[in-house]
Amino acid sequence: SRSERCVVAVDGPSGSGKSTVSRRLASRLGGVYLDTGAMYRSITWAVLRSGVDPQDADAVAKVAAETELEIGTDPLAPHFRADGMDVDAEIRGPEVTAHVSAVAAVPAVRKQLVDQQRAIIAAAGHIVVEGRDIGSVVAPDATLKVYLTASAAARAQRRSAEVAADVDATAADLARRDQLDSTRAASPLKQAGDAVELDTTGMSIDEVVTALHDLLKTRVNA
Ligand code: DC
Repeated sequence: SRSERCVVAVDGPSGSGKSTVSRRLASRLGGVYLDTGAMYRSITWAVLRSGVDPQDADAVAKVAAETELEIGTDPLAPHFRADGMDVDAEIRGPEVTAHVSAVAAVPAVRKQLVDQQRAIIAAAGHIVVEGRDIGSVVAPDATLKVYLTASAAARAQRRSAEVAADVDATAADLARRDQLDSTRAASPLKQAGDAVELDTTGMSIDEVVTALHDLLKTRVNA
């Protein structure tokens, strides 16, 4: 039926277009949007603010447990707060970006955030969830799982335009984070076996959103 609830899991490496596409798809569906990367980024912001070494897993886990996240899921304005402070700008900055892979590799942090993610998904109607382990770990029963990819050059181009940074430096940073994110022991970035892979190189945002919406319509009356 029309009201059948759907959960869309969107995974893939940085710069594959996940965020923009996930937000637009959530809007089209009249649903909400969960940016799980922003959750890892917000905990990283709290770790840096507390002066804890991001490589000290026990200390990082303690900061995570003590940090109160407010997680915005409006696809038009997904605002985040950590301990009552607006972190939207700082979680996209170079300091957080440099340390987020280390924080996201701590198993206790992942467990805490995955529990929160599952609670948000359980309480939602239609929801589009983007991250690295959504189809594989967070929402294995998702209605649709997609794995977005794009050429390294296209990803660096998009990311550098987003953050107004040099394209070569961005390419190097993406390669470093992909390496860390896909080789860590706890829930590494990997494609779920039943995910549909979509290479977005050369596709417009609208084309990608429509492709995902069409895929979803083959599964439910969305
Ligand atoms: O998508 P992003 O660049 O905002 O993600 C930030 C970091 O968080 C990224 O380096 C990998 C990590 N991450 C993760 O480990 N698991 C997720 N579900 C989402 C992000």
